[in-house]
Amino acid sequence: MNILGIESSCDDTAASVLTEAGVLSNVIASQSIHIQFGGVVPELASRAHHQSISQTVDQALSEAGISIKDIDGIAVTQGPGLMGSLLVGLSFAKGLALNYGIPLIGVNHMDAHIYANAIEHTLEYPFIALTVSGGHTQLTKISAPLQHEIIGKTRDDAAGEAFDKIGKILGLAYPAGPKIDALAKDGNPAFKKFPQGLVHEGLDFSFSGLKTSVLYYLQDLAPDEIQKHLPDICASVSEAITEVLVKKLDRAMDEYGIARAVIAGGVSANSMLRDKIDVLSKQKSVTIYTPSMAFCTDNGAMIAQTGALLFQHVYSTKKPAELLAEGLRLHPYAGQPSS
Ligand code: KG4
Ligand code: ZN
Repeated sequence: MNILGIESSCDDTAASVLTEAGVLSNVIASQSIHIQFGGVVPELASRAHHQSISQTVDQALSEAGISIKDIDGIAVTQGPGLMGSLLVGLSFAKGLALNYGIPLIGVNHMDAHIYANAIEHTLEYPFIALTVSGGHTQLTKISAPLQHEIIGKTRDDAAGEAFDKIGKILGLAYPAGPKIDALAKDGNPAFKKFPQGLVHEGLDFSFSGLKTSVLYYLQDLAPDEIQKHLPDICASVSEAITEVLVKKLDRAMDEYGIARAVIAGGVSANSMLRDKIDVLSKQKSVTIYTPSMAFCTDNGAMIAQTGALLFQHVYSTKKPAELLAEGLRLHPYAGQPSS
């Protein structure tokens, strides 16, 4: 099947073409308009999606060298995400599907982050997924394709949100996650011991205490001291966040007796997290897949990949024409609102 994937849940307009030969294109139009506000402004995000979606999809098709007429299925992010942003992608995808008579499928954004790992790896089941993005932090047990059980989640901020909010306190531009990551490479992770929320108990996460602790710590430091030790502070913050993520993933694998895992979502691009995951998989002789950088943060290829899986699933009981007649096919929990 040739699948067109469309993603517009937050501040990236993305489209990708996936065929049996693999990902043929993966186009992302990122919105820089939010930088001046230090975070995503929903109304501006939907307007920017509206402006760039047509061109982004065109580019994905032309880079793939495929005409829309040769697309067998369109996969689009249905949720969770910003309502106005989601509506732009959904409406555009519905229009394409209706006009060209192509079956359409709705994809859950969080599932898609997980199945981004299937683009380059053959996933064996069951496995545990650690999904760490700007809006979510979750541990999920995946028993079989599309059979998910959330076994742990954040009680307050998401891991990416913690990076972004702490970065804002440090004067770094949004999104601060990649900037903290880059600065941390030259810093000492043991410079300051910040709290690791809920590290000794269960599979849930908490990052709001860390944010407050960094805020109080910085209030007692002179501005030139902060600048001088910025890499050390970034490394210490990264240490607190990534250590707790890896310990919880380790605990989940132990508790459920599953020796396979994936990490997913924007924060899976973090170099300290990836290094720790590498160490854990070697120490415990477990398989932990990490997506390539292009598939960590929001992208269309992960939507197309999950769409392919969903189409396979529904086509085992329905013909393409039946699916087309049904209109938008909903994944059981694709439309859950963002927490
Ligand atoms: O998955 P994603 O692109 O969007 C959501 O679904 O939220 O994740 C975006 C988040 C942002 O919070 C961003 O700061 C964080 O991922 N992020 C990183 C890195 N790259 C992106 N955090 C830490 N280190 C990185 N290298
Ligand atoms: Zn995402």
